[in-house]
Amino acid sequence: MNERIREALNDQINAELYSSYLYLSMCAYFKRINLEGFARWLEIQALEEMTHAMKFFNFIHERGGKVELKTIQGPPTQWDSPDDAFEHVYRHEVKVTSLIYNLVDVGMEEKDHATTNFLQWFITEQVEEETTADGIVQKLKLIKGEGGGLFMLDQELGQRMFTPPPGTTILQSGM
Ligand code: FEO
Repeated sequence: MNERIREALNDQINAELYSSYLYLSMCAYFKRINLEGFARWLEIQALEEMTHAMKFFNFIHERGGKVELKTIQGPPTQWDSPDDAFEHVYRHEVKVTSLIYNLVDVGMEEKDHATTNFLQWFITEQVEEETTADGIVQKLKLIKGEGGGLFMLDQELGQRMFTPPPGTTILQSGM
């Protein structure tokens, strides 16, 4: 694996771990404001991001590259409202999509077809992540902070189950 690709893939491990950290921090925020369903949704999202990091971790190993874990930046710890938090989720996922697209560009420039092929799964995943986050933002806009609506959305989000993506090595947590 060439050095430019290896460094770019290692940077993405860090970005996925930061995503996990960010969503876990949001999970703590929702627990503080007693919206346990939102908190569960974000806890599962944090676990999913960990599986994304592990996909990159395993891919670098399989290609004979060295995994280098770097310092994870501290996430924010407070948001103004559920709307504010989920607008942040959406903005963050759009940013992650652009990181994946940049990685694909690097793979193409370096003619590393194994890497560009590996990244296809993430391209599809990012479409889903952006759509899901935007869907929750739109529901929150309709609710306008009204208690009954928030309660119902909290119930809905609390139904989320954790299903590790195929091929990931994170252990089933029984959630
Ligand atoms: Fe790993 Fe939410 O993208």
